[in-house]
Amino acid sequence: MAHTEMVIAWLNDAYGMEQSITHVLENHAKDAKDHPQLQSGIQQHLEATKRHADLVKQQIERLGGSTSTVKTAMSHVMGMGQSVSTGMAKDELVKNALTDYATEHMEIASYRALQTAAMDLGDQDLARTCETIMADEMAMAQFLEQNLPTVVSMTLQQQMQAHMGDQTSTDMSAQP
Ligand SMILES: [Fe+2]
Repeated sequence: MAHTEMVIAWLNDAYGMEQSITHVLENHAKDAKDHPQLQSGIQQHLEATKRHADLVKQQIERLGGSTSTVKTAMSHVMGMGQSVSTGMAKDELVKNALTDYATEHMEIASYRALQTAAMDLGDQDLARTCETIMADEMAMAQFLEQNLPTVVSMTLQQQMQAHMGDQTSTDMSAQP
């Protein structure tokens, strides 16, 4: 039926989104290597994200669909924040935190939409899955929000220390 196909398409968007986020979080966990608390939070959510992809895949299959390998518009959007973890920019952790925070809210919106659709269609199983996943996304958004001030302050502090190092250096012309 047409409405089921639409829900399957939305679930495929969510599936593509979770897969993109898996790659992003792998890179962001590497970037956070000097910040154990942040890194472990990201790693935990990386595992959760893999579970989400599995849960979404199960729902797609239960509804008679199959996971599409075609990258959706949404997964492209989510993949934009994907950073290559080489030669970290000085404010990489701040940029990562902003991207991840936005990403979590995109996910919350997506699962809220899917949960509404599930309720409208009387699909309790799908509704429960969306609620389970949404709870993880909300917890991650909260974790990122709580960590943001520390990440910003530490980044600034490191810059100030690096600048003090520059001033004692003999060659000022090499500094940006
Ligand atoms: Fe997720």
